[in-house]
Amino acid sequence: MPSLVRRRLTSAETGPALRALSAWTPADVPGGSLHPGDVGWYLRFDDAAVLLWLDDGTPVAVGFLDGPVLRVTAAPGADVGAIAADAEEVLGPGDDWCDGLPMPGWELDQGAPWLVMSWTPRPVPDRAERAGEVGADDAADRVLVQRAAFEGSTFTVERWHAMKRSPAGALAVETLVRTPGGEPAAAATGWLAGAGRCGLLEPVGTHPDHRGHGYGRDAVLGACAALARRGASAVAVATPAANEAAVALYRSAGFTVVREHHDRVRAGRPA
Ligand SMILES: CC(C)(COP(=O)(O)OP(=O)(O)OC[C@H]1O[C@@H](n2cnc3c(N)ncnc32)[C@H](O)[C@@H]1OP(=O)(O)O)[C@@H](O)C(=O)NCCC(=O)NCCS
Repeated sequence: MPSLVRRRLTSAETGPALRALSAWTPADVPGGSLHPGDVGWYLRFDDAAVLLWLDDGTPVAVGFLDGPVLRVTAAPGADVGAIAADAEEVLGPGDDWCDGLPMPGWELDQGAPWLVMSWTPRPVPDRAERAGEVGADDAADRVLVQRAAFEGSTFTVERWHAMKRSPAGALAVETLVRTPGGEPAAAATGWLAGAGRCGLLEPVGTHPDHRGHGYGRDAVLGACAALARRGASAVAVATPAANEAAVALYRSAGFTVVREHHDRVRAGRPA
């Protein structure tokens, strides 16, 4: 009898998956593709579907389809080969990338890598400490920054509320930095995985009208400090190596590169 079972969880059902991901998050830097915060940010979508693999009833992997990329974190010591074989069933046409599982026959994507960067708790400048934490009253401004910073963003106040009321909502620590005139300028969403574990930033953005004034760094360091105050042992972020502004921002905030990372891509995929 096969003991590996895959469940598809709605947002409201993700508690066990989030608890498992938190338990698998190390103190220094996340090991797999997903931190609880990646799931938390995904749960802004009402139709989110999170995959939970169980072996004899024990969680062994958590994943979701992030566009055409299947992203998975497996438990330390899990049989990733068996999980990868099962995961093929969830891939539809065009779902040709995977991060976190050794899909049989797939190869490393030779495109530009992602960088996983990490920050170790330390004092931050006063102006970063003053970055406001986002509450319901700031949701519209937080959304405005997101939509301006990321072309094609579909974030809405409704989606912000969906994220916050999801089982991951309590893990979120968000900062919003304003100009001296009160305009919303930069925002960072940080995520806890519990005390003594590495937190995550996802996402970070500055309104194009307000770039180059240190607001992004204030939002990042404000979120890092808030995560550290709540017990995070470090804070990680992942960014495409080609995103020069983001890499410069994180370096200037004291992050260092921990590893380079390539997704796997389906072999023979037409270019
Ligand atoms: C990345 C981003 C948040 C930077 O925000 P910002 O508020 O302009 O950054 P800051 O003014 O705080 O700058 C912080 C540091 O990054 C550097 N930097 C910022 N933009 C840069 C750019 N385009 N090229 C080179 N360096 C840049 C600054 O010079 C500064 O470095 P310094 O302290 O050594 O002088 C912003 O460009 C953005 O929103 N981009 C689109 C969304 C995105 O890619 N987010 C990150 C996803 S992981």
